[in-house]
Amino acid sequence: MTSIIADYEFFEPQTPGQQFARDRLLIECLRPDKPAHYQIAEEYPLVLGPEGSRHSICVALKGHDPGTSAFLAHANLWFRTMACGTELAAGSSTVKLGLVGNVATNPREQGKGWMRTLLGEIERRALSQGADAIVLWSDLESFYQKLGFEPAGTEIRMTLSTKKLRRYSQANLKENLDKAVGVKVWLPDGYRTGELPEALIERMLHLRSTGFNQPFFQLERSPQEFSELLKIPDLSLFVGHGENSGGLPTIDFFFIVGKGMDMQGIIHEWGTTDMNLLIGGAAIVAKHVGLDELTILVPPAIISERLTELRRVCTRSEHHPMAWVKTLNPKTKPLVEQALHKGFIWGLDSI
Ligand SMILES: CC(C)(COP(=O)(O)OP(=O)(O)OC[C@H]1O[C@@H](n2cnc3c(N)ncnc32)[C@H](O)[C@@H]1OP(=O)(O)O)[C@@H](O)C(=O)NCCC(=O)NCCS
Repeated sequence: MTSIIADYEFFEPQTPGQQFARDRLLIECLRPDKPAHYQIAEEYPLVLGPEGSRHSICVALKGHDPGTSAFLAHANLWFRTMACGTELAAGSSTVKLGLVGNVATNPREQGKGWMRTLLGEIERRALSQGADAIVLWSDLESFYQKLGFEPAGTEIRMTLSTKKLRRYSQANLKENLDKAVGVKVWLPDGYRTGELPEALIERMLHLRSTGFNQPFFQLERSPQEFSELLKIPDLSLFVGHGENSGGLPTIDFFFIVGKGMDMQGIIHEWGTTDMNLLIGGAAIVAKHVGLDELTILVPPAIISERLTELRRVCTRSEHHPMAWVKTLNPKTKPLVEQALHKGFIWGLDSI
């Protein structure tokens, strides 16, 4: 057990100097070998962007300028509501989660207990603000297990081979693919600059809830937040559309590939009226960008017909924990477990 004897304080980085020091620490810890052509704040626009400093918690030695090397560790804490989309459960089935991310200790200070201390503070803040649990994403299993986190939920990772995609979609959607109606893949202008029409964003949010066994829990996300998240660099949004209606095309499906430095070649968020159409869209995209395979993240609540269709183009399927959780309230623990077990946290929401 490590112990800290130094006098320290927690603070939220308010000044540009403090935010610069925070971003430098995150790059040093989380992106040491990968120079990016964009700022780390662009990858996490809601928690590291100009409006996000209240979601950052840092530790520094007391009395030192936190813009200097006294800056010891950082983590984000972002409160979200996980809710069930059915009317039946409206109002009753929501849990408040504190999402934790961008966890980093200054490399010269690691192993001294700073992150244990900071995550303890995060837990206290989350509890005092009525959160039911804190949730994070990481490969550092033994570290988070040591700090009391448990694996939560399931994410099915399905690898789709381009060859199979193409063959299957031609057999099932021959007419559509040949005539290029029904499966028109569209990279809508404007999503990179936050100018996508709100009606389209709302349609995507709606599709994201379709085709899953109920109760299906997701993190609530406003159209404005969706619009901000779509600006993340190295993210591609593909939309399949049908006929125009009221000046806007109706949407048959959408899917998002990539997210900053993460999830390249991975469809981490999607929705569709018909799984065959999404498979057709993925076939076109995979061929167009010259990929041999694509991976799709699938919520375990997917209805069985859709899973069967995906299996036909899948070459490998693996089950992984969706996230790591520490429940904070014994009374709501069963509901948190139900929400994470039956629901899904899509890629854009994970920090
Ligand atoms: C992982 C990281 C945040 C740990 O921070 P830290 O301040 O060094 O951790 P602490 O000193 O508070 O360690 C707490 C306990 O976890 C253990 N621990 C630390 N890093 C660990 C690791 N990578 N794997 C397993 N256990 C680890 C410590 O030995 C300590 O155990 P103890 O209390 O029994 O002695 C830090 O190493 C880091 O910033 N790494 C690079 C960035 C990163 O990987 N971030 C996490 C992304 S999710």
